[in-house]
Amino acid sequence: MSTQKKILITGGAGFIGSHVVRLFINKYPEYQIYNLDALTYAGNLENLKDIENAPNYHFIKADIVDEKAMLDLFAEYKFDSVIHLAAESHVDRSIEDPLAFVRTNVIGTVNLLNAFRNTWKGNFEGKLFYHISTDEVYGTLGATGLFEETTPYDPNSPYSASKASSDHFVRAYGETYGMPYVVTNCSNNYGQNQFPEKLIPLFIHNIKNNKPLPVYGDGKYTRDWLYVVDHARAIDTVFHDGKEGETYNIGGFNEWQNIELIRVLIKQMDEKLGRPAGESEKLITYVTDRPGHDRRYAIDANKIKNELGWEPSVTFEQGLSITIDWYLANEEWLNNVTSGDYQKYYDGMYAER
Ligand code: NAD
Ligand code: DAU
Repeated sequence: MSTQKKILITGGAGFIGSHVVRLFINKYPEYQIYNLDALTYAGNLENLKDIENAPNYHFIKADIVDEKAMLDLFAEYKFDSVIHLAAESHVDRSIEDPLAFVRTNVIGTVNLLNAFRNTWKGNFEGKLFYHISTDEVYGTLGATGLFEETTPYDPNSPYSASKASSDHFVRAYGETYGMPYVVTNCSNNYGQNQFPEKLIPLFIHNIKNNKPLPVYGDGKYTRDWLYVVDHARAIDTVFHDGKEGETYNIGGFNEWQNIELIRVLIKQMDEKLGRPAGESEKLITYVTDRPGHDRRYAIDANKIKNELGWEPSVTFEQGLSITIDWYLANEEWLNNVTSGDYQKYYDGMYAER
């Protein structure tokens, strides 16, 4: 869709953002890629070591909550397109500190929209604001049914409420100011470089270290899982071929109850660690549930599949195996991000359960 070449990617030092930056840097050497990131606990420039010296890569350390900084940066660089991933992304943290999510996810997004609007002043030909969102905005499903692009918003956590709010602002800027935009709502991602507060990397870390696996509630909550590189491929597809003003759901056609997923993870980990089959199942520990815990997410990703020809490239078992291998081979990355402040967060979060 966008033919323009000066692209701002926000949150590019985070989990999904780093995969998107890498894909764009390697696939489109003719594009100039600006990675803007505040480097919060979740942002890590080590994620981009392999491409940091590429001639088309530029890093800007800035906070999207800083209105003046956003206006100044857009005035200076005149970004043609924005792929907006920067966010507070962890549901448990949003329950502890909702305002942090309002600041970054709502105010930060509106600051970017204003700066984009201010730069192009209605002359939006060939420009694009691409907002990355989540399936959590749709709320929770019963035992059957799928989230479609037309499913009404019904967010249940401070995180999903803040993401829903930002989605609404993006659409409102499209309607009110004619700003060209596209929104995608994706299911749970997993893969290399995910911060180990999220289920899969946390459990890989704990299995490896023979630590308890804290399963929330009865463990029968359901999520759809997508390998992060496939999400980055979907973002590339929508950025180039998506229809302006549209929403696309992105998912893995891959639903799992948490406890079943944990058993598959344990099976692969025990094999890779040379432990007897099923040995790490003894680490499963049922703990107090997450408040407002959504029972089931499931995505109908047929629109992006049928209209834009995207579909996942790996099976869940393949993606999981690549992911585990990466974490086992990158102990230093894991140790760096799990020391210091994260250890305090972990001890506090799980002591309460
Ligand atoms: P992440 O937490 O790993 O990374 C977020 C990045 O944003 C970090 O690099 C962080 O430093 C940066 N950031 C945070 N606050 C900032 C601020 N105020 N200014 C500038 N940078 C800031 O997140 P993720 O899992 O990679 O998610 C990226 C996006 O994708 C988010 O918008 C999230 O809502 C969405 N999403 C995530 C998933 C998932 O499963 N992880 C699924 C669907 C959608
Ligand atoms: O659906 C997309 C969303 O997926 C993204 O928008 C979010 O940014 C991302 O964090 C993720 O949200 P979830 O809350 O689904 O992910 P999380 O990894 O935190 O939890 C996955 C499931 O596992 C959920 O049902 C809660 C459960 N869980 C999680 C943790 C961290 C546990 O049982 N124990 C745990 O320790």
